[in-house]
Amino acid sequence: MDKNKLFFIETWGCQMNAEDSEKLAGMLKELNYNESDNREDADLIIFNTCCVRENAELKVYGNLGVLKKLKDKNPNLIITVCGCMMQQRDMAEHIKKRFPFVDIVMGTHNTQMFPQYLKKVENERTSVVEIWDKEEGIVEGMPIHRSYDMKAFVTIMYGCNNFCTYCIVPYVRGRERSRKPEDIENEIKELVKNGYKEITLLGQNVNSYGKGLEEEINFAGLLRRLNNVEGLLRIRFMTSHPKDLTDEVIDAIAECDKVCEHIHLPVQSGSTNLLKKMNRCYTREDYITLANKIKTRIKDAAITTDIIVGFPGETEQDFDDTLNLVKKVEYDSAFTFLYSIREGTPAAEYTDQIPDDIKHKRFNRLLETVNLISEKKNKEYEGKIVEILVEGRSKHDNTKLMGRTRTGKLVNFKGSEDSIGKLINLKITKAQAFSLVGEEV
Ligand code: SAH
Ligand code: SF4
Ligand code: F3S
Repeated sequence: MDKNKLFFIETWGCQMNAEDSEKLAGMLKELNYNESDNREDADLIIFNTCCVRENAELKVYGNLGVLKKLKDKNPNLIITVCGCMMQQRDMAEHIKKRFPFVDIVMGTHNTQMFPQYLKKVENERTSVVEIWDKEEGIVEGMPIHRSYDMKAFVTIMYGCNNFCTYCIVPYVRGRERSRKPEDIENEIKELVKNGYKEITLLGQNVNSYGKGLEEEINFAGLLRRLNNVEGLLRIRFMTSHPKDLTDEVIDAIAECDKVCEHIHLPVQSGSTNLLKKMNRCYTREDYITLANKIKTRIKDAAITTDIIVGFPGETEQDFDDTLNLVKKVEYDSAFTFLYSIREGTPAAEYTDQIPDDIKHKRFNRLLETVNLISEKKNKEYEGKIVEILVEGRSKHDNTKLMGRTRTGKLVNFKGSEDSIGKLINLKITKAQAFSLVGEEV
């Protein structure tokens, strides 16, 4: 009998792509492929690409260039490129032209077709380029091979309708569509049966969950429903758009015991003027009021964020407003990004682009502020007793175990392997810049 063939998937970008990769892996397992831990041994290499910022695309080009050598060595190697970057206009043709050795190019809307494309390439030694420009309905029941045990990501809605003026996601992921609550619940029950303890509900804007569904349900209702799943220990969710985070959702987070007190609430900018140009639909004041409400209603809540520096037209005053907001809200952590022009988005056409050197200077100032505050927030944990879900051995020191607090902070500690997969209480003995140290109590 033939030895099983090997696949290797490289995934860039966010959890949306990560989930698609898990589905591709699931389909390949059904075709008797095994996963390889390196590119060199693989019979099939898949690049799942992201295009949210220019540097994400540059990485893909760089890595594709290197694959040429592998293909020269092994002409039977099948190379597939898929993901968000392929959904951009003329990209598929561009990739085929520049990297003619690529066998399959597909987009984000036809992942379920992959086995057919693969068969075609294997049998006919031809190449396949197929991009669907629009999303079809949601395809349920696809096989999935998950990358982690214990923690799983479950997408509750696909696409985005918000069209922030800098962002490519709505163009490459299509319009917003929600999964039926029973499909989500069944998937989670199945996960729990298989030993999963924590799930993260995913969507570009989870707070608008439920629109267009037959059953009347919103995100707060979904949280309450899932909170009843027996055996599940923790529920997380990402991402919350500030304009749609209602009191009802805040109450659900506060009241549901499994729902963790961590809200990722991208602000993007602290200047009302820029927020308007970004089409974010809230003001600086709205955001600060919302953050305060979260802090008052949800005990010990962690708030994290995304911030863009150097959006077109950003003045010193706009940037100061951002710095000042960061200090006011006191984020537990923040992802900071340099604004990157995305062809096809409205902001790419703005004529008041910010020079790179100014962008970088502002970026460094922001990062310094963000890090100081993160450290201060971590320090507040010293001496406190917190609940941890123990995930396994620490990556950096395998004599230690690691887990996360309900607020998402990483804690390293000495303990017994029996506690892996369980909730335990730890006393935090030391705060470091990006993690905590604890001991069992
Ligand atoms: N749906 C989520 C996140 C989407 S992309 C949300 O609305 O918050 C993740 C982050 O990438 C965004 O929050 C934004 O901060 C950043 N981002 C998106 N487009 C960008 C661009 N053109 N340049 C720089 N950062 C960008
Ligand atoms: Fe992009 Fe805005 Fe949609 Fe987030 S909400 S994915 S930033 S368009
Ligand atoms: Fe990138 Fe697509 Fe996510 S563009 S950030 S992988 S939705």
